[in-house]
Amino acid sequence: MSKRSLWGSKAGFLLAAIGSAVGLGNIWRFGYMAYENGGGAFLVPYTVALLLAGIPLMILEYALGHREKASPPLAFARINRKWEMIGWWMPTIAFFGINLFYAVVIGWCINYFVFSFNQAWGADTGAFFMQNFLQVSDSPFNLGGICWPILASTVLAWLVSWAICYREVNHGIEKASMVFMPLLVVLTLVLVGWSLRLEGAWDAVKTHYLSADWSKINPLSAGGGKVWVAAFGQIFFTLSLGFGIMITYASYLPKKTDIVGNALITSIINCLYSFVTGFAVFGTIGFMALSKGVPFAEAIKSGPGLAFVVYPEAINQLPAGKTIFGLLFFLVLIMAGLSSAISLVEAFCCSLIDKFNFDRKKTVTVVCMVGCLGSVVFTTRAGLLILDIVDHFVNNYGLVTGGIVECLLVGWVLKASVARRHVGGAGGVRLPKFWDVLVRYITPAMLLVVIGFALYSEFGGNYGGYSTRMLLCIGVGWLVAALVLSVVLLRYPWPYNKLAREHQPEEDHLLV
Ligand code: PHE
Repeated sequence: MSKRSLWGSKAGFLLAAIGSAVGLGNIWRFGYMAYENGGGAFLVPYTVALLLAGIPLMILEYALGHREKASPPLAFARINRKWEMIGWWMPTIAFFGINLFYAVVIGWCINYFVFSFNQAWGADTGAFFMQNFLQVSDSPFNLGGICWPILASTVLAWLVSWAICYREVNHGIEKASMVFMPLLVVLTLVLVGWSLRLEGAWDAVKTHYLSADWSKINPLSAGGGKVWVAAFGQIFFTLSLGFGIMITYASYLPKKTDIVGNALITSIINCLYSFVTGFAVFGTIGFMALSKGVPFAEAIKSGPGLAFVVYPEAINQLPAGKTIFGLLFFLVLIMAGLSSAISLVEAFCCSLIDKFNFDRKKTVTVVCMVGCLGSVVFTTRAGLLILDIVDHFVNNYGLVTGGIVECLLVGWVLKASVARRHVGGAGGVRLPKFWDVLVRYITPAMLLVVIGFALYSEFGGNYGGYSTRMLLCIGVGWLVAALVLSVVLLRYPWPYNKLAREHQPEEDHLLV
């Protein structure tokens, strides 16, 4: 059995983990959520969610990966064979449910990076994006052929992911994160500074981002509960929890590690990044709304609409530096996206390598080829529609299920106290006993409410106005397909002695 690689430095590990957490969602999802849910007041449910679910789960994932030195399937199987399937489900859904379209979105960003040179999107950015660029068809079932420029940039995104993951983590992902992350921070700060100097920017930030509408977050008011659920959902997604990524990354940590400290740093930097980026987003939209004379509420959008319609429109209005501003913005998106995409590739590949003892280079090559082929469906004219449905189902159900299951597994089967003592034994900050209560009761209960709420809204009307057949075939179908693949992978026997842990850590025998 080949020896497991280790991160070369603590900073390398942290930058990789932060790279996974900081993604497109931080830029195009957080600000809009805050805007919709009470502006500055949204920070309250957001921080509560961070403390009650985000940080405890981050610690849990780190502790699990570090204790077992294993990817999710192996870590789960070692604790109890019956839970191995969920260990497969997490990286499988992450790879097939997210990575395939994430690469395509990075591809769009690459295209727009090139368009920035001469603002090729023209005056009507919305029409350009939907009709000229994506050529969106009328139904997710009507694929309508491949958009070749998108396919070309998607292949490029996969090639970069492949080249980074091909090498051992300390040479590939670690080195890449050491370059990407500092650069990302610097470029983001330049963007924030620039945006805030635009006319009308500060006013928009003050009135729409920082001012607090406290009535919105009262959990007992009509719609107040929704705000809290949104905060928990966003924390979960933004910290890349429930995918098995943090378990995998922590499996490469050396024996002596400050698990709690690392979890705190990863979570807090990620959330700070979102908060700071919000200034750029609100500033830019505020400027655009002012110069076009439209109300702010009409100008703001979330997701692809923000990046590919609103931003180009704002760039069109700039008095100077249009090209540089565009290049900067899309480069930030590309880097934030790539550092998340590689973590998805890594979690899936590491799971396969752990179970089948495959060679890393071959595994990464085949997995990236399969991923690239799978991405083709999102490069068709129905790509945006399929992406929208898959994203909705994977985020609302796939991840959260993973999160609940890992709480139950560690909280009840392994026992939270065992994991807590492992964290203490690894050195660094010790966990308070209250963590056991969080992991056993509070966090899973909160996540159950999130799922319950999502399910409830599902019956209140079809998501996005798609037909029930589309939602079932594509959304539910995607989840079921990942489940089937997990069962297939589960069926293969483990190589001899793989399930045995190298040695029982002494802290397991200590009684507290
Ligand atoms: N954390 C990422 C974001 O906020 C989402 C993500 C999670 C992307 C896991 C890739 C892997 O955008």
